[in-house]
Amino acid sequence: MRKNIVAGNWKMNTTLQDGQALISEIVNMVQDEVTGSNVEVVVCPPFPFLSAIGKQLPTGGRFHLGAQNCHQKESGAFTGEVSAKMLQSVGVEYVILGHSERRQYFREDDELLSQKLKAALAAGLKPIFCVGESLETREADETFDYISKQLKDGLFHLSNEEFDQVVVAYEPIWAIGTGKTATSAQAQEVHAFIREQIARAYDAEAALNTSILYGGSANAQNARELFSQPDVDGGLIGGASLKSRDFTEIIKSF
Ligand code: G3P
Repeated sequence: MRKNIVAGNWKMNTTLQDGQALISEIVNMVQDEVTGSNVEVVVCPPFPFLSAIGKQLPTGGRFHLGAQNCHQKESGAFTGEVSAKMLQSVGVEYVILGHSERRQYFREDDELLSQKLKAALAAGLKPIFCVGESLETREADETFDYISKQLKDGLFHLSNEEFDQVVVAYEPIWAIGTGKTATSAQAQEVHAFIREQIARAYDAEAALNTSILYGGSANAQNARELFSQPDVDGGLIGGASLKSRDFTEIIKSF
């Protein structure tokens, strides 16, 4: 089901105490200032804080708990790993998969990600599946081919029913953490391409019903223009999600 979503990816930042103070500020600001909008807010803290932060989120409202990754197996001898089932058991509803930092630093390829997607869906989680090109790929004018392959190899093996649970995030690698945000025209062009690929792989209804988020130096100043694009349904926010005022302003940008 297509929704306006703002997801905060805290990455490997904060402590429990700082994270609890941050989420308390965000919840208060959003409850006071965001009225009349149906935007969903997904908070993705580091694993150790999920349960405590989840308890601070108002139940039944716009706030939802997300994780930044999950293992592809349900359980077993995988020291240090966390399964989708464990995440679900502490109230997690969404899980970010295929983030470029995990593809780069942890060698996650589309085959592994297709397995992680299955595990997340089996545990009842909604995947936020990330795609996005490097600067070299963009400058070589190969963005569409690259993203098409990521979608085909990583995502389009799902059934129609499974795909209904998926949120897609377009995160141009060259915009992540750099302050070099994609222009709204660049974002719209790639989001429209992703939606067209979904229509081809599934059908027009699936394409229309998929939320496609933009990530990559989105902030309080550029969010409104980005979110005004017809195929941009919200944002996957890194740095700005760690600042309560900025994150709240992004949430207000619809
Ligand atoms: O997952 C979102 C993240 O990669 C974007 O980071 O700091 O550029 O908003 P940032």
